[in-house]
Amino acid sequence: MPTLPSKIFIDGGEPQETRQASEMMQKQFGKPLDGQTTNPSLIAKKLVTGDKEQVTGKSNGEISRVTSHVSPITQEQALAQYKRIVQEMSSIIPSGSISIQVFADADTTAEEMLLQGRERMKWIPNASIKYPCTSHGLKAASVACKEMPINITLAFSQSQAAAVFEATKGASFPVFISPFVGRLDDRGENGMQTIENILKLYNPPAGGGDGHVEVLTASVRTLDHFLYALKLQSPIITTPIKVFQLWADGGYQIPNDSYVYNPGTLKPIPYDETITLGVPWQGYDLYHDLTESGVSRFFSDWMGLFQ
Ligand code: E4P
Repeated sequence: MPTLPSKIFIDGGEPQETRQASEMMQKQFGKPLDGQTTNPSLIAKKLVTGDKEQVTGKSNGEISRVTSHVSPITQEQALAQYKRIVQEMSSIIPSGSISIQVFADADTTAEEMLLQGRERMKWIPNASIKYPCTSHGLKAASVACKEMPINITLAFSQSQAAAVFEATKGASFPVFISPFVGRLDDRGENGMQTIENILKLYNPPAGGGDGHVEVLTASVRTLDHFLYALKLQSPIITTPIKVFQLWADGGYQIPNDSYVYNPGTLKPIPYDETITLGVPWQGYDLYHDLTESGVSRFFSDWMGLFQ
């Protein structure tokens, strides 16, 4: 059976997709799906639409406001639903990794995020807790990485990746960083280059990484994102089921050296030689406007359930 250079996760809020992809992986590669990522928008979408499929824009978790006509739900009930959804996913891939996100806006403190993370860890035995790539999020992550697997979400830059590396040095559990390629593409920048840059930063000889942070290519929009991430040997790729299905339809291609990713007219994001590892994490520039807008969108999508 062919072997894959990357672990494959499904990005979504629907356990049925976890099952479908895992069965397909088992058939093709002789092993189940490696994991699942969720986020507040994806879970809110699932709670809004139930089992109905909806295509509303580029982002996997985009919610159609037009059809947001759910019966009233309390925050407690929505959280219980999130727990039920990840428990179902966990039962489908008990040996996989399931990312569960904390709910945070710009004012949520590290302590509050840590409390949420500890609580979510009790939901399932194979959780990885997602913290945002902000100063509060990394402060939480620097403590959390000694207690639980973590996934730093909404990463968009080489500088943020350096900070994640330093903040989680000495981690006792797996650490993932999720650079969002599609959201960079959406505004005309070559998101896949962020994956190239972070891999270079972490991997010797250019970088000085020790391998404790695994790059999880996220916000995958196209089959080419997926194929190029495989070619780059991104340790993990999370993909919407639609892109996974396209990959399957094409015979589960594993790109070889002849595969070339074509970024078209997307603006390059060059590697910055001045950003190196080895500085305390607070010394790196953590600001990225897409991180800020991403944090507030996740939060508002979740809070939108209760209006
Ligand atoms: C990853 O963990 C995120 O859930 C996801 O990939 C975000 O993708 P989007 O940009 O399609 O919302």
